Amino acid sequence: MCNFLTANKDQLVNIKLNLKQEYKNIKNLNLNLDMSRGKPSSEQLDLSMSMLDTISSGSDCFSAGNIDCRNYGASEGINEIKELMSQIMEANKDNIIIGGNSSLSLMFDTVSYFMTHGILGCLPWTGQNDIKFLCPSPGYDRHFSITQHFGIKMIPIKMNSDGPDMNEIQNLVENDDTVKGIWCVPKYSNPQGITYSNSVVTKFAKLRPAAKDFRIFWDNAYAVHDLTNSEEKLLSIFEECDKYNSSDLPIMFCSTSKITFAGSGVSAIACAGENLKNLKKRFSFKTIGYDKINQLRHFKFLKNINTLKYHMKKHAEILNPKFNLVINKFKEHFLNNPIISWTEPKGGYFISVETLNGCAKETVKYCKGAGLKLTDAGATYPYGIDPGDSNIRIAPSYPNFEELDKAMDVFCLCAKLAAIEKLIMFQSS
Ligand SMILES: Cc1ncc(COP(=O)(O)O)c(C=O)c1O
Repeated sequence: MCNFLTANKDQLVNIKLNLKQEYKNIKNLNLNLDMSRGKPSSEQLDLSMSMLDTISSGSDCFSAGNIDCRNYGASEGINEIKELMSQIMEANKDNIIIGGNSSLSLMFDTVSYFMTHGILGCLPWTGQNDIKFLCPSPGYDRHFSITQHFGIKMIPIKMNSDGPDMNEIQNLVENDDTVKGIWCVPKYSNPQGITYSNSVVTKFAKLRPAAKDFRIFWDNAYAVHDLTNSEEKLLSIFEECDKYNSSDLPIMFCSTSKITFAGSGVSAIACAGENLKNLKKRFSFKTIGYDKINQLRHFKFLKNINTLKYHMKKHAEILNPKFNLVINKFKEHFLNNPIISWTEPKGGYFISVETLNGCAKETVKYCKGAGLKLTDAGATYPYGIDPGDSNIRIAPSYPNFEELDKAMDVFCLCAKLAAIEKLIMFQSS
């Protein structure tokens, strides 16, 4: 197929007729495909089934120090899982609080805590006017939902190829004391799969915020989720902050949702100083302790960071061919017809696509009409507003290989239809 960007209007109109016919044929197949969320496939979930056999009798229920995990106690989490989480998060074990089944709920709780109680003697955020969060975009929609829920104003921050634009961040954080936080997914970011460079992490550690109660929400959801044998290394934010005397800034979140069972894993927070003291207290009011049986099961199954990494390789063996399929389809359809660009992540769960300006919503709409559900266009930006209407998040993990192949054919066709209509309109005006 020719390059739409150099074709004349008559050529475009002819191609569009053919594409429309192809679309009609696909619609007649009554497909029902879903690439809307980054969910592990059943094949991936099966990798952890034997975890459920690790506890089968009362005597299996004891953790170090003879703690009976069936009972109340060890409210900050059992020692073994703290040790394992500290290895995943590359954080001091004593700085870790173990949570329940979801890191997102820990993020929600932490924001909620700052809203109602504040930190370091500052007024609670509810008592301060017009507070703001910085939102590197495209980013994770559920982060944005949390801040929107609490009525916190969101400011999109441009993402560069090595992380968010640190000049923009430094300028806002250091000059505006109403800026209270920033959402970061520092490794294999959602949706672009970018790992922040050393220089970006160091610049975070060197920030001197105007607000004493500014915090970095460091969501390390994909800390061990490599797709290939060459891991992208993320500099330790805690070590950097120790160097620059800013260890109160970061609060790290993590979970085993995409290591074992999504929604039935173990989550954790790592932070230091006042953050740790205050959040520990907060959680002590909230619960007498999270599910220690699940913590123990996770420890017995995953054991240590080396065995965990071996387990993650099995995930990669399932996921990597799916990522390759998506990228190969893009190359096949768009290398010579550059109406979209895409990321080629080395880990994580997503591929990010940039369409021509003003074509993302239409592409997603066409896909929906052909039976392919995608994340809504705009969802990767605060308030669901993508200023260029160009970003689409592709989540290749859930469908099986055959479904993914079909889904990508549908996607490529729909991306072409949306682009060609835009280009014809442009040439007509
Ligand atoms: C960046 C990011 N953070 C957090 C989550 C959710 O994690 P959890 O299942 O621990 O709540 C996801 C899930 O897709 C994610 O992409």
